[in-house]
Amino acid sequence: MKVIGICGSPKKENSTTLFGLKKALKAVEQCGVETEIVQLSHHAFSGCIDCGKCSNEYTCSINDNFTNTIMPALKNDEIKGLILASPVYFGGVSSQMKMFIDRCLLFRRNGFRFENLIAGVLTVGRSRNGGQELAAMDLVKSAMIHGMTVVSDASPTSHFGGILWSGNPEGIEKDEIGIKTAENLGKRVGELVKKVFG
Ligand SMILES: Cc1cc2nc3c(=O)[nH]c(=O)nc-3n(C[C@H](O)[C@H](O)[C@H](O)COP(=O)(O)O)c2cc1C
Repeated sequence: MKVIGICGSPKKENSTTLFGLKKALKAVEQCGVETEIVQLSHHAFSGCIDCGKCSNEYTCSINDNFTNTIMPALKNDEIKGLILASPVYFGGVSSQMKMFIDRCLLFRRNGFRFENLIAGVLTVGRSRNGGQELAAMDLVKSAMIHGMTVVSDASPTSHFGGILWSGNPEGIEKDEIGIKTAENLGKRVGELVKKVFG
């Protein structure tokens, strides 16, 4: 059983989203579930062009890293959950995350590969109230469209997933409340993966 964390930051290093995602995945691992991170910044890929090719078969007409690397990695049957993590860009997700979401249409069209997997979402914004929850809803919507089971962060924080603030003058490392939501999200995803698939 494995949970994959998708990091939607365009940064290769020093990503605050990656920081939050790692906190969540550590909590998943503490539940006895393996984890892996896919950093979208490590892959050159474009958005969906609606060519329709995947309507008929499990293939994508775009020859890029999504098709050649990310797609095969996500087809692994060991994957029982996903944590979708994005920085907040203009109150929504980053363009990298949006491209990822749209390219995943192929999994829906070919047997609903992600159906019933456990999903959690995490967002990081620089402003204290910069749209973290709105961006989280972008991620929730995409997970629901795949038929995934979307969970909140576990009690006692229990709202919309990992919600972090990178603009904290002392650094995101001191965003204790945000880190707690990330940890509780990972705990909930890990517990549910074990309960449903264990
Ligand atoms: C184009 C752009 C738009 C942004 N829009 C928002 C926003 O609407 N709200 C917010 O709180 N932060 C916004 N930010 C700040 C990022 O969300 C913030 O710096 C975040 O921590 C970046 O995550 P990363 O370090 O993982 O890339 C924006 C940053 C960029 C580059």
